[in-house]
Amino acid sequence: MQTITVKSPGTLSNLCCGFDALGMALQEPFDIIQVSKRTVSGISIYHKDSYGLSEDPKINIAGVSLQAFISKLAYKEGFDVTIDKKIKPGSGLGSSAASAAGIVVAVNELLGKPFTDNELLLLAMEGEAMASGSRHLDNVAPCVLGGTVLIRDAQNLDIVKLNNPDLFVSIVHPQIEIKTSFAREILPVDIPLKKAVMQWANVGGLVSGICMNDLDLIARSLVDVIVEPVRSKLIPGFDEVKQIAIQSGAMGGGLSGSGPSVFMFSKNLETAEKVESEMKSVFDKIQLECKSYVTRPAQHGIEILELQ
Ligand code: HSE
Repeated sequence: MQTITVKSPGTLSNLCCGFDALGMALQEPFDIIQVSKRTVSGISIYHKDSYGLSEDPKINIAGVSLQAFISKLAYKEGFDVTIDKKIKPGSGLGSSAASAAGIVVAVNELLGKPFTDNELLLLAMEGEAMASGSRHLDNVAPCVLGGTVLIRDAQNLDIVKLNNPDLFVSIVHPQIEIKTSFAREILPVDIPLKKAVMQWANVGGLVSGICMNDLDLIARSLVDVIVEPVRSKLIPGFDEVKQIAIQSGAMGGGLSGSGPSVFMFSKNLETAEKVESEMKSVFDKIQLECKSYVTRPAQHGIEILELQ
């Protein structure tokens, strides 16, 4: 096989209370990555999208993960990579993870699967860490594995894939950029015990709700008393967006990853569409351009579209 094309999904990370510990693969948006083998060593990267990302493999997220892959395998030849990003960088929808994970999964397939999923996660994390300044797995793991994923222990790669709950996801992405590294720097270092208790009780409730597909328990558990109060200040209109979404019938939601995207879960498509349009209307009112989606959790992670 010479060339592979894969679809690499966007992801919701944190899922409100599960900072760095929970993530979910989405059916939309997704990036398309094509990789071809070549006989000379080195990596060439070409971006078809217009986000102005560097094509220098040393500072391109996909390039960094691919170089880690090549070094680990002591592979002598090289690759030509074409990336069409649909997930806007800095959106909070796992754009960097889609690049970092998509490239290593694609090349692994092309070379007959020399690495396990866990090894691929570590390689993907190289690019993700360069982009965000931290080694979190809550975007990369659902991107590779699909479904809803619990990162029980990131250091020892103790990762639990959960079933997807039967729900719909509305996302609004105001066109401002929030760098994950900055959104992490502003977080509190110490957490009062009372808040910690609320947070871990909600994580327990959320995971139980997901496992039992108990949508009401999921709704009650979508509460973040630690991270959201700090980060939501970076997003104009956030409180109103959240309020209108709940009034429109959403189960609950909050910041997608480090933002600025806001996600909401709904029990059916009709509600999810209403929630999407109501949330958008708040950003319209304050003249903040935004992109929006109604999508669902994805059962599969990165998928092969073509192998030839
Ligand atoms: N868990 C990470 C954070 C995800 O919230 O900083 C970043 O996309």
